[in-house]
Amino acid sequence: MSETRPKRAYVETYGCQMNISDGELMEGILADRGYEIVTAPEEADVVLVNTCAIREHAEKRVLGRVSQLNGLKRDRPGMVIGVTGCMAQRMGETLLEDAPYVDLVMGPDGYRGLPDTLARLGHGPAEFVSGAHEESAPPGLVERKGRRGPQLAVLQLDMDENYQGLEQRRSDGPSAWVPIQRGCDHRCTYCIVPYVRGSEKNRSAPEILKEVRGLAEQGVTEVTLLGQTVNSYVSEGVAFPRLLRDVARVDGIRRVRFTSPHPNDVTEELVAVMAEEAAVCEHLHLPAQAGNDRTLKRMLRRYTVDSLMEKIELTRSWIPDIALSTDIIVAFPGETDEEFRDTLDLMRSVRFDEAYTYKYSARSGTPATRLPASDFIDPDEAQARLEELIEVSRAVQSEINEGEVGRVEEVLIEGEGRDPGQVRGRTRRNKVVVFDGDAARVGSYTRVRLERTTGATFAGSEVAQAYAEPVTV
Ligand code: SAH
Ligand code: SF4
Ligand code: F3S
Repeated sequence: MSETRPKRAYVETYGCQMNISDGELMEGILADRGYEIVTAPEEADVVLVNTCAIREHAEKRVLGRVSQLNGLKRDRPGMVIGVTGCMAQRMGETLLEDAPYVDLVMGPDGYRGLPDTLARLGHGPAEFVSGAHEESAPPGLVERKGRRGPQLAVLQLDMDENYQGLEQRRSDGPSAWVPIQRGCDHRCTYCIVPYVRGSEKNRSAPEILKEVRGLAEQGVTEVTLLGQTVNSYVSEGVAFPRLLRDVARVDGIRRVRFTSPHPNDVTEELVAVMAEEAAVCEHLHLPAQAGNDRTLKRMLRRYTVDSLMEKIELTRSWIPDIALSTDIIVAFPGETDEEFRDTLDLMRSVRFDEAYTYKYSARSGTPATRLPASDFIDPDEAQARLEELIEVSRAVQSEINEGEVGRVEEVLIEGEGRDPGQVRGRTRRNKVVVFDGDAARVGSYTRVRLERTTGATFAGSEVAQAYAEPVTV
């Protein structure tokens, strides 16, 4: 029975950067307890699908994927399938009932106890399967008798869990995500996040800075600070602008980004730090959600179009060249055609460099689902609004990008391009550019002239004299 090779775990993550960062955290926790992390489910003893619950479509896709992974179980008795993350938290034991081949559901606050929980399913390196786990049952663990065997649920949200002291397993590369905040204290009426991730909890600033210094020592030069309303961060008297300044001054860090800020916490102090600190990139993702006051009010976004515009003007007054991106939801229940047109007007007047656009998706338990049935917008109408919005936002994006052709920008080379001999990089203003270069230079910085745009991305060429490193082409 006893196996000599380490148990192998595979983590597949969906959803936002915070969830991807949680996937790295789970890998770190498992690796620390003796698991080998593999990159294909076929090789794994434990397969974890780390899920998102933000829209119905995201959940459907994942449910399909989980049932597909069940196919692997037929040839591999003893394999564990776990569903973690926001959809696991939202669906909980219903998911175990509907998908009896799932062995474990675990919400976003349960990961510290992941190895111990797996041990209860008979998994993990031998020494801790053999009983060491008995006294460390994760809080809130529920064991149930499923149709195909025991199933476990760990769904307790924990106001104190911010994973202090645990290390993410990051892939080598120049960029790293650093979660500084978990959960959310807003209650936007469409949004499931506060229900699946709980209230806002912030990590301590010294701990974040220690982590960033450690990353810089390992060769990371770009960090992205993560939180659902990242700029509302405050811990022991250190608020976000101060933290951002301190992170930007860590030796070796050349680029700092953060996502997602809430418009209400965009203050002059924050914008001043962004302008003054050379490492903070000239890009701000500012989710507007809608361009109409009645809709914003019913979304409980807590700002008006005018106050949003003031924030944008404030930002542009300090950083005239800043690139702005946004998130927009169309067809929120009760949104009239006229109100939707206000959103189109906002897109045209702000001129966002990029917009992530969504159709409203009803999330059970959120306040918006209790609006009168007659408010819910016909799916064809919602689709038409989405298409119109995409058309407007793409046209604006194309115009902006065409105006940028000819600029020379600092680019961090992030990976290979689609064609051989090409690399792909990103400017400080978050624009993707492809140019001729050697894949060995991934992770290095160079200067690139933007030569053409497809509308969304650029093709460019390096400005030769600016090389900091020897050229190997
Ligand atoms: N905390 C971030 C958003 C996180 S969710 C913020 O406040 O901006 C990412 C995006 O998904 C949101 O900005 C919103 O545009 C979209 N979204 C959230 N819930 C949604 C829903 N029920 N239907 C459609 N889109 C939604
Ligand atoms: Fe959701 Fe609003 Fe919180 Fe963002 S701020 S995560 S949209 S509730
Ligand atoms: Fe999705 Fe959860 Fe992120 S619902 S968007 S993975 S916080």
